[in-house]
Amino acid sequence: MTRTIPHYPVHLIDVMHLPAGTRVMLRPILPQDVELQRAFFRSLSAHSRYSRFMTRVNELPQALAERFTRIDYTSHLALVATILEDGREVMIGEARCVADERDPAICELAIAVADVWQRCGIALALLVRLERQAAELGFRRIVADTLVTNRAMLGLARRARYAIIASPEEKTQARLEKHLRPVAAIAA
Ligand SMILES: CC(C)(COP(=O)(O)OP(=O)(O)OC[C@H]1O[C@@H](n2cnc3c(N)ncnc32)[C@H](O)[C@@H]1OP(=O)(O)O)[C@@H](O)C(=O)NCCC(=O)NCCS
Repeated sequence: MTRTIPHYPVHLIDVMHLPAGTRVMLRPILPQDVELQRAFFRSLSAHSRYSRFMTRVNELPQALAERFTRIDYTSHLALVATILEDGREVMIGEARCVADERDPAICELAIAVADVWQRCGIALALLVRLERQAAELGFRRIVADTLVTNRAMLGLARRARYAIIASPEEKTQARLEKHLRPVAAIAA
């Protein structure tokens, strides 16, 4: 049975080719990606999982995986990077942004790439597309909290031109922030 998902942003489906020739599909997440999502989480090293969630989590609970995949693509948007391995789709990265409940002009970013695929430009490719769509959706600021020891995320943030601000409440964390230009201003 084919299900139609209202508002599925098909225009965000894209392909990137890594220098070694691997074809990586970039697309908005789908409700049927629950197992892909959980397998992706399992494929992350303990260090990457800790960096992503800032707490020790061994398994992505089913309910959370469902929340991560059943999204409205407006207040919650997630893009995934997938490859084909022996004819099976495998998730190797994801970037998501969720509207801040207190301020709808702000969205919160979370991002992760499978360890063996890091430093291939996948996070940056996801982030650029996520930011563009977040601006299109009307968000004016994208923010993330990260551990001050997370060199990879701080490096990505610098590269993507985020401001890095020391957290006043939590010394182990830094806040990353970027203003999103309204789409009309980008087009001009
Ligand atoms: C942070 C993370 C998403 C980066 O993903 P990635 O796909 O490896 O990043 P990219 O290859 O797109 O890197 C883009 C740029 O970010 C910077 N960067 C990425 N990894 C870096 C590292 N380990 N050290 C320093 N800079 C780094 C570089 O400027 C890089 O450009 P370059 O490779 O041309 O020098 C990845 O390391 C990860 O999943 N970490 C675990 C989860 C996590 O920490 N999530 C963040 C929680 S907010």
